[in-house]
Formats: sequence, structure tokens, C-alpha cells
Amino acid sequence: MRTLGIETSCDETAVAVLDGEGRIEANLLSSQIAAHAPFGGVVPELASREHLRALPFLVERALESVSGPVELVAVTTGPGLVGALLVGVRFGAAFAWGSSLPLAAVDHLEGHLISPFLDVEGAPARPEPERVLALVASGGHSSWYLMANGGRRRLGRTRDDAAGESFDKVGKVLGVGYPGGPALDRLARSGDVAAVPLPRPRLKDAPNDFSFSGLKSAAIRWIRDHGLAGAGEGGGAAVADFAASFEAAVVDQLMAPLDELAAQHEPRLVTAAGGVAANTLLRDRLAAWGLERGVEVLLPAPALTTDNAAMIARAGQIRYGGGRRDDPRRLDARARKAWQPPGMRAAVESTREVGER
Ligand code: KG4
Ligand code: ZN
Repeated sequence: MRTLGIETSCDETAVAVLDGEGRIEANLLSSQIAAHAPFGGVVPELASREHLRALPFLVERALESVSGPVELVAVTTGPGLVGALLVGVRFGAAFAWGSSLPLAAVDHLEGHLISPFLDVEGAPARPEPERVLALVASGGHSSWYLMANGGRRRLGRTRDDAAGESFDKVGKVLGVGYPGGPALDRLARSGDVAAVPLPRPRLKDAPNDFSFSGLKSAAIRWIRDHGLAGAGEGGGAAVADFAASFEAAVVDQLMAPLDELAAQHEPRLVTAAGGVAANTLLRDRLAAWGLERGVEVLLPAPALTTDNAAMIARAGQIRYGGGRRDDPRRLDARARKAWQPPGMRAAVESTREVGER
């Protein structure tokens, strides 16, 4: 079924159309980075207003560019910023109801998990094999999952910050702009990974979990102690060395449970998704790990690592194909209390999230 996907959980308004076999026919994105950048992070109220403006326009454009009628609507219902989610949820539900189309409510993380199976060059979506070990690393999440028999089980997770969040927070102190991840990735390419000693704390009682807050604090302390606060992209070799060292430490933390998880679960495939899966070093290290172990590693095209609606449309197709039906009159946004977007904690706290008491 040709599927319209809608994603408005955070700071990207995204709309996509996939044909019945999961080929991407349209994949549009309106980034709000410029709107939030002056605040150093996502401002929830601003995100909702920007989604309201962009969404109808993007849907119209996407529908114009595809070769047949849409037969299913898929929309992200959470987790995310409740006001941002509501724009997509209400629009998607009304669109489905008004066009007499079925609707699929999609979990944002399920979208990320399915994103590596999409192709950006027009091939059909790849079927999910049995037993996949999947890393989701974004601004809001960092977890390893087992995907098996159509189900998902979380095997390990961050105990504090998400990987992307730590890139963003450290990048902010360093003055490389928002979001910090892509900037630090760029800078790291010309830096020395061994230049700055940074800790890689592990949790003794939970070997599959990881932590970024100790690393983040040590990194921020090092930046301040060495006069690099606010130095920005023009900070020369010292900033590049710091970026390379910090990136290597984050990647080490994310990869630390992989050997043990692979030994336990004997995956057919290892994947990574979410914004941090665009990271150059993480991609290289995962690919090298796969070659060494003889395990296939499948990474989404960089354009599908960050938030997008193609992954939401695909997850919706799978949900609908599995017999799940969602009523547009009862569809609601699910903010999850534990979830916070990168940066701007104070602004988030000023917004009452539905479902929070
Ligand atoms: O998946 P995503 O678009 O949104 C969330 O669901 O959070 O991920 C955004 C996160 C940001 O924290 C950003 O800094 C990080 O992904 N990111 C990167 C890179 N590109 C994006 N982190 C490291 N290296 C990159 N190349
Ligand atoms: Zn995401």
C-alpha cells in the first residue's frame, strides 16, 4: 500500500511517501535548526509553530510528486515533545479520516530501528532478518536492541545522557554551534584521537549499559581548563584534537557492550540508526567490527539517520501489515517523561507535558 508518512516529534518537519514495497517515492524535510540555533537547543513552543507552518505545505508537495494514490497514513505518535507531536498526530488523523484511509500510529524509535532497511536509491525496502542487534543513538536515546521474531527487546541503554545529547552539550561549551554532533564530527577528521585523555567509565553491575555523564563532565572541565570554552570551529589544532578525542570516547562507550551482546545473541545482522549513526568514526568502527567478525553490518544512508518520515512510513506499513489498526478519533500524542530533547532543559521544563503529573 502506498503510504504517507508524517514525523513531527522534535525539530524536523518530515513527510514521505513509500510505495507498497517500501521504495521511497518522496522524502521531504523542513529543518528547524536555524529557528532554534539562537537558543542553543530546541524550544518546544517554537517547534510546534514551525511544524504547523511547514506540514501542510510539505504534504501537498509530496503528494504532487508521487505516481499513484496514497492508501495508508502513518504518523509518529511518540515519544517526543508533546506540542510538536500533536501537530502531526492531529493532521495525520484528520487526513486519514477525511480521505477514508487507514491509519498507523508509529513509535519514533521503531522508525529508527527500521531505517537501515530502506534504500535511498529507489530499491524496495529490505526484509528484516531474524536476530538483528541494533543500536539506536540519537539526541534523545542510546540503546542496543535485539530485533527477533518481529519483536524488540532492549538489551542495554544509557543510564544518563544520550550520545547525541553529550555531543550537543560539549559542542555548546566549545562554541561549535547547535547541533554539536555534525560539527564535532567534521572537526575530528583532522584531529588526533590520543591528544586528550578522557575517561570511559563502565557500570560494574550492568555491563550492557553505558554512561556519558562522567565523560561529558570531564570533557567540559578539560575545555574550560585549557581555555577552549567558546573557541568554536576556528580554534585550530587544539579544537580538532579535542573533537577527535571526545568522539573516540563516545564511540568507545557505544561499542563497549557489542562483543558480549554478539556472543550472547549471535546476530545475523548488526545495524545502527539515529542521528549519531551519521558519525564517521562510529560507522567506520562498526564496519571494521563486522569485517573482523564475519557479521554483516547495515547502516542507513546518512540522510536516513536523523529524523525523517520515510522510516515512519515503513514502520507504519509493517504495523498495518501485521494486522494492527489505529482509530484516528482516538489517536493521541505520547510524550514520554524520561525523554528530553537535546539542550534547552529549562525551556522544556516550562512546558507542561501531557501525561506528566
Ligand atoms: O535522530 P535525531 O535526528 O533526533 C533525535 O531523535 O534525537 O538525532 C539528532 C542527534 C543530535 O544530538 C546530533 O548532534 C546528533 O544526532 N548527530 C551526530 C551527527 N549527526 C547528528 N552526532 C555525531 N556525529 C554526527 N555526524
Ligand atoms: Zn530521532
